[in-house]
Amino acid sequence: MFRENFIIIFIPFLLLPNRLLSELLAHHQAPKLAENIHNQTLLIGSKFKFFCYLQASGSRPLHFEWLKDGQILRHYGGDRQTSSYTIATTEDDTLFSIDKIRLNDSGNYTCLVRNSFGSDSKTISLTIKAKSHVTKQLHDWLHSDPANRK
Ligand SMILES: *[C@@H]1O[C@H](CO)[C@@H](O)[C@H](O)[C@H]1NC(C)=O
Ligand SMILES: *[C@@H]1O[C@H](CO)[C@@H](O)[C@H](O)[C@H]1NC(C)=O
Ligand SMILES: *[C@@H]1O[C@H](CO)[C@@H](O)[C@H](O)[C@H]1NC(C)=O
Repeated sequence: MFRENFIIIFIPFLLLPNRLLSELLAHHQAPKLAENIHNQTLLIGSKFKFFCYLQASGSRPLHFEWLKDGQILRHYGGDRQTSSYTIATTEDDTLFSIDKIRLNDSGNYTCLVRNSFGSDSKTISLTIKAKSHVTKQLHDWLHSDPANRK
């Protein structure tokens, strides 16, 4: 019984293409993110912040997500040992930050927002620079596997 009701009620919705659905509900909007982003090159140890907010209001509820090189980042920042980032999300925006960037924080960061009517995303490329060539070599050496050090 439950199963039949489920099919009758939900299957027609699943068959409607997303675009058609948004046209039917024209007063509802897909989210559009602000164009405030630029690729960045930063020195090791500096702060990185990526603030992501809507250019025009999209229909709530909004769901924000962060990705690094296409991989979803856990919202609470994960393990302090391996990641130094924090994510702070409100109903309308989200802020990604890293307090002290490390070499392996370089990559492409994507902010993705979704609601029932569509999605939008912005990606920036973050490049990390060591303070100098010698500092980089020292940094690499300090973080290399001691068994492989020459
Ligand atoms: C990034 O590098 C730091 C040392 O600079 C290391 O502790 C950490 O495990 C690395 N993280 C990843 C995800 O490789
Ligand atoms: C970041 O994106 C650029 C271009 O989209 C690509 O060439 C590069 O390989 C990406 N970097 C990483 C670490 O995935
Ligand atoms: C940012 O970097 C990516 C990949 O490195 C590149 O494809 C893109 O054009 C850059 N965007 C700007 C605004 O410079």
